[in-house]
Amino acid sequence: MTGSNFTLDHIQERSSIRAYTDKALSPAEVERLKQAVLAAPTARNRQELRYSFITDKKRVEALDGRIFHFCDVEMKEVMAKRQSGSFFYGAPLVVVISAKDTSWADLDAGIAVQTLAIAAQAMGLSSVILGMPRLAFKPDDPENCRTLLGMEEDERFCIAIAIGHGAAEKEPHAHKPEHIRLFD
Ligand SMILES: Cc1cc2nc3c(=O)[nH]c(=O)nc-3n(C[C@H](O)[C@H](O)[C@H](O)COP(=O)(O)O)c2cc1C
Repeated sequence: MTGSNFTLDHIQERSSIRAYTDKALSPAEVERLKQAVLAAPTARNRQELRYSFITDKKRVEALDGRIFHFCDVEMKEVMAKRQSGSFFYGAPLVVVISAKDTSWADLDAGIAVQTLAIAAQAMGLSSVILGMPRLAFKPDDPENCRTLLGMEEDERFCIAIAIGHGAAEKEPHAHKPEHIRLFD
């Protein structure tokens, strides 16, 4: 714990949770997450990101179908080890962040997804940031999930996050203080 600064506590306590209970998020919780992500800064305040808030299980299943179709054997083994039949680990809310292909989109999306992760942590929820769903949005895949999320022609997947009530615990990753360069 870091004294009374809860934001710093939430940053330190967050870890990737890969198992969730069935409990749905309340409309008020979903609304707080929407407000949090809309508060994330974007380059030149262009606000070009789009945030798909998905609670519809059929859509999540469709995403999983395409991800499993394209993921390699190694990843399938990782998922078997994690005992998960879903790349979203049963979370009741998935947020997919997408954008038109501008030079700042990925940076903006990174900031937005961590904003959601910390907001979730602050609300007593768990989360895991997800890059694998990119496989569900391949433009050259006739069965991709782009229209399922109303993506425009020149829009692309940036990053996703699963959020819910954790059904497992995981220690935060070990810090590597040597990665900090000091110039006093
Ligand atoms: C850009 C990015 C993509 C990630 N993609 C996935 C993913 O597809 N599936 C998954 O289970 N975890 C994913 N993770 C979670 C990382 O594996 C996790 O953050 C890392 O192992 C450190 O663990 P921690 O989050 O518990 O500190 C991703 C994390 C980031 C930042």
